[in-house]
Amino acid sequence: MSSGQREAGVPNPSHVAIIMDGNGRWAQMRGLPRQEGHRRGLEALRRTVRNASELGISVLTLYSFSTENWRRPYAEVSFLMGLLKHFVEKDLAELAAANVRVRVIGNRDDLAADLRRLVEHAEIKTRDNTGLVLVIAFNYGSRDEIVRAARGLAADAAAGRIDPAAIDDEMLARRLDTHGLPDPELVIRTSGETRISNFLLWQAAYAEFVFAPVMWPDFDRAAFEDALAQYRQRDRRFGGVAAPADRSVGVA
Ligand code: FPP
Repeated sequence: MSSGQREAGVPNPSHVAIIMDGNGRWAQMRGLPRQEGHRRGLEALRRTVRNASELGISVLTLYSFSTENWRRPYAEVSFLMGLLKHFVEKDLAELAAANVRVRVIGNRDDLAADLRRLVEHAEIKTRDNTGLVLVIAFNYGSRDEIVRAARGLAADAAAGRIDPAAIDDEMLARRLDTHGLPDPELVIRTSGETRISNFLLWQAAYAEFVFAPVMWPDFDRAAFEDALAQYRQRDRRFGGVAAPADRSVGVA
């Protein structure tokens, strides 16, 4: 049975989010410039989008540039900006033909106007597609996203449009960049690092985490299927108890 199918009633996650880590180390281990690691990382990204579609995943979110990544040397930052531009320009037609819907989350204010326009164009061109939703997190940071949402709610409350007492988690979630998307059930981080790095802090409240030892450029179908298999073995309790027979009290 392939990982795209249900195994004994345990479904694959519908939303998988990935922290694509290890491009720099992948390159360093081979005596190559870091940029080569990012170039190979883009190939891994393309492969993972194809695999996600084939494995029946509905939403794939990829952490491509964080609000903290501006601290990198200027040359690397502009290379990553260029890589996003290159990806959208070169792959958009193919993604659109493959019925992929593209969405970009993160703070667009700091992006160059041409990149912003390109991203908007990709979203508009693919908005009626019904296949995989590919979410690119670019200039994304969870704290920044939550702060922007909180500002919006505060402005509405100050203007009398909403009652502060009526603010609940659903209302806040509707203000996040991810509004309308299901929460990720599985977050994968490659490279063996075991941090969340300001990624989907709100949305991943009940996600399962898989820390894959491979560097991102080496993330292949087998590594993806292995992460899905680990997910299917997890006991997801959402703060409840494991099974009716098990009355022991525990945290989530
Ligand atoms: C983390 O590796 C990776 C990134 C910060 C960038 C991710 C970018 C790609 C996968 C390429 C595709 C990009 C776009 C924009 C579509 P790292 O550089 O932190 O690796 P290290 O921890 O080994 O140094």
